Amino acid sequence: MSAAQPAGHPTAAQRSGHLALDPAALGEREVYHLLTGLVVPRPIAWASTRSASGVANLAPHSYHNVVATDPPVVQLTSSGVKDTLANVRDTGAFVLNVVSEDLLEAMNATAADLHPDEDEAAWAGLALEPAATVDAPRVAAAAAHLECTLREELVIGNGHMILGDVRHIHVATRVWHEGRVDPEALRPVGRLGGSAYAVVERVRRVPRPRAADLGGPGRP
Ligand SMILES: Cc1cc2nc3c(=O)[nH]c(=O)nc-3n(C[C@H](O)[C@H](O)[C@H](O)COP(=O)(O)O)c2cc1C
Repeated sequence: MSAAQPAGHPTAAQRSGHLALDPAALGEREVYHLLTGLVVPRPIAWASTRSASGVANLAPHSYHNVVATDPPVVQLTSSGVKDTLANVRDTGAFVLNVVSEDLLEAMNATAADLHPDEDEAAWAGLALEPAATVDAPRVAAAAAHLECTLREELVIGNGHMILGDVRHIHVATRVWHEGRVDPEALRPVGRLGGSAYAVVERVRRVPRPRAADLGGPGRP
């Protein structure tokens, strides 16, 4: 069944201008295209690791987010077992390199399905430096790095979620403004569906209202 033409009679949702899709009735690829096209833009965990034999590895993962800030924990999820996951299992360490617009093509190049003995960074022409606190390299040109150690691996279907404790953070002074990260200077890249990416060209600032501003009761 095509995701664009669901079978059966139109539902109330279709009549109102929405497709009504049951993920359980769709194929895995259709669900993949729907979820990765709708949960957007996704931040990109550009993870650098080292294999047990010392080979550097670099690969993007857009199933990625902050899990907690106290303690600082992030997650990235591997669809199946790939070199990044194998390396994190072996060494317990990884670095997340922030992808700015100037690194978009290089980041994409590191998603190539190279042999585990090949270093994607070298193929993409990227210089690596040792991390300060963990046994993994970092991308020298990235504006920021999160150095992490493996806290836990959760397996959910085809997803292997790597939860990492953030041990050390580098932020380039060029993206640092008045004690905060400056998004206009960072120009982060987000993943959309397929080969589409979002780049930050306009930032809108919308202060969050307090209940009192809305005239409503505040949270107890
Ligand atoms: C922007 C982008 C985001 C990606 N996100 C993921 C992801 O979240 N999980 C995943 O398993 N693969 C993801 N991939 C594909 C991996 O990067 C690709 O399979 C890569 O070869 C894995 O490298 P590794 O075997 O060195 O870990 C993504 C690719 C791109 C270009």
